[in-house]
Amino acid sequence: MEEIIIDANISKEKRYESLLPQLSSLIEGENNIVANMANISAALHQTFGWWWVGFYLVDKEKNELVLGPFQGPIACTRISKGKGVCGTAFQQAHTIIVPDVDAFPGHIACSAASKSEIVLPIVFETEVLAVLDVDSEHLNYFDDTDSKWLQKVVDLLTKNQPWKL
Ligand code: SME
Repeated sequence: MEEIIIDANISKEKRYESLLPQLSSLIEGENNIVANMANISAALHQTFGWWWVGFYLVDKEKNELVLGPFQGPIACTRISKGKGVCGTAFQQAHTIIVPDVDAFPGHIACSAASKSEIVLPIVFETEVLAVLDVDSEHLNYFDDTDSKWLQKVVDLLTKNQPWKL
C-alpha cells in the first residue's frame, strides 16, 4: 500500500468510514506495534489535518506514560499516571473528550496552541498499554463520532495481532 486516499470534501463520518479499511490493510501482516502506531499517526494526520495526533505508551516499570509515535510538534516525553488528560485516561481506562483544555483540571500544556482534545486508552486483556491522543487548535473539535471511529482504529492495534514492543 503506497498511499491513503480520502476525499477531502466528504463528511467526517464518511472520511473515517473510508479510512478504516485502508488502516487495516496498512498494518495487516505487521505485528510491530511501533511501526503500526507510526503509520496510523501519519494516516490520521494526513486525513484530518489535526494539530497533533499520536500515542503514549505505558512504561510498566515506572507506571507512567512515555511518548510514542506521533505527528505534529514536539511533545512532553513523560506523563505521570493520573496527570493531564492522557494520564487520566490511562488511570481511568476510559475515553475522555475535552472541549476546552483550559477548563480541564491538571491539563498538561505541551503546546499552547492546543485547545481541545480526545484521548482513548488502548486496552488489551483489561490492561491499559497505551493511549491515543488527538489535539486540535480549535475549541470543541471532537465529539462522539470521533470517539466511535477512533475506538475502531485503536481496536485494529489490539485485535488479530500480538501486542509486541
Ligand atoms: N495535553 C495532554 C498532553 C499531551 S500533548 O498535548 C501531546 C494532556 O493533558 O494529557
